[in-house]
Amino acid sequence: MFNEAVIKEIDEIRVKYPDRKSALLPALYIAQREFGWLSNEAMSCVSETLNLPEAFVRGTASFYSMFRHKEVGRHLIQLCTNVSCMILGAERLIDFLNTKYGIQKNGTSEDGRFSLVEMECIGACGTAPAMLVDTDFYEDLTEENIVGILEQYK
Ligand code: FES
Repeated sequence: MFNEAVIKEIDEIRVKYPDRKSALLPALYIAQREFGWLSNEAMSCVSETLNLPEAFVRGTASFYSMFRHKEVGRHLIQLCTNVSCMILGAERLIDFLNTKYGIQKNGTSEDGRFSLVEMECIGACGTAPAMLVDTDFYEDLTEENIVGILEQYK
């Protein structure tokens, strides 16, 4: 079960809406923050806290790609590999991340520090390649500056 602070945080969101179903997405986001991903336990906690059927919670969560449905490393790198980023070196960066940190595409480094997924355009085509690390946005990536960026994430 969530701790009291998390239950209070979800309750404060819930009362902003006329229907508790409307608080489901922010509650799932909080659950993901707390558990690192939406495990069965995390979704049961959301179901219980919002008093919504588990099937409804799971069905909603499964629709959105922003929710993680399997365990990931402490930090999630989402690297854009759409056209502009690909032309400007995203594939090279993926190879570099694999060589330097041992992170495969859709995999997690052995130390559990990073997971890496490809993503579609994140709206930074003019300053590609671009990525998110957790919720932080980075652009103009190179093999040189990506090391400095990732140093911030232990
Ligand atoms: S193609 Fe990567 S940000 Fe648009």
